[in-house]
Amino acid sequence: MVKQLKLNDYKQQIADVYNRRSHNYDESEWHLRIAHRLVEYAQISPGYDVLDIATGTGHVAIEVAQTVGSSGKVVGVDISTQMLSHARRKVEALGLSNVELQLADAEALNFPANSFDRILCANAFPLMADMEATLRQWIGFLKPNGIVGFHALADTALVGVVIWQKVFEKYGVSRELSEPTGTVEKCHNLLERAGFEAIEIKTEQYGSYISLEEARQRWTISSYPAPKFSNTLFQLSPEQLEEIKAEFDAQLEALVTENGIWNDGTSFFAFGRKRGNRELLTGNSYQLLDN
Ligand SMILES: C[S@@+](CC[C@H](N)C(=O)[O-])C[C@H]1O[C@@H](n2cnc3c(N)ncnc32)[C@H](O)[C@@H]1O
Repeated sequence: MVKQLKLNDYKQQIADVYNRRSHNYDESEWHLRIAHRLVEYAQISPGYDVLDIATGTGHVAIEVAQTVGSSGKVVGVDISTQMLSHARRKVEALGLSNVELQLADAEALNFPANSFDRILCANAFPLMADMEATLRQWIGFLKPNGIVGFHALADTALVGVVIWQKVFEKYGVSRELSEPTGTVEKCHNLLERAGFEAIEIKTEQYGSYISLEEARQRWTISSYPAPKFSNTLFQLSPEQLEEIKAEFDAQLEALVTENGIWNDGTSFFAFGRKRGNRELLTGNSYQLLDN
């Protein structure tokens, strides 16, 4: 029998988006680069047990599985059946026997305490409806001294999204997607509030120049699900939406340079460590990453 997940409207919409997108998701160079970088920073060793949250088509899970080897294990979870099917096909094609893929909501997981050396989440953490509560759950699944690592985008990233937010703001519409993770400080505070130590946030730029047309296509985020999408958007009249769209286009046009429009891609790779048993006793703390 095929396992079914009970998802709320927001999560069902997300699963639908990625089910539709799964057939060409792997064409995105961006997602692969981010996933690879997160794994690099996470300092995976042979024998580790790793949880890949929102594994999608398995970019992180597959790379990690090749490092942890037969003495380690990777569990990848996702709410999109189609993304998982792609991941499964890739895992089988590579003959990886140390990867387990599960249909599961990352915010309602059920693993024994102290199960994993690393919990990683690439290109998906800001989709969590309650990031702090989610991190609090994940910390329980980590072994003492285990590390959580996620990727998030800065408030300034993705010009189409930034302008979209700006023009909709005065109508009381906000997607609040990057809100809790949009700066280094916010990422740091979030991890701290969730109980992590030795927090490190690496900042990298993945931006590039894009055409005006490409930037304009971001208007479609109006129909992309978000955890706290205010209902105000749906109360706007067609005339108001037309007016907002014209303003959106005009603001993007004003940003055009001879190279195109700068599409900021400031990315954070955020890491926090769960306290070790010894530290729980002594209250000591150590440096997390040495690179
Ligand atoms: C942009 S993809 C990232 C996939 C993969 N981590 C990568 O880096 O390529 C976002 C993924 O998050 C998954 N996702 C979103 N919310 C989730 C949740 N609450 N639990 C599990 N998976 C979730 C989606 O189904 C989708 O596969």
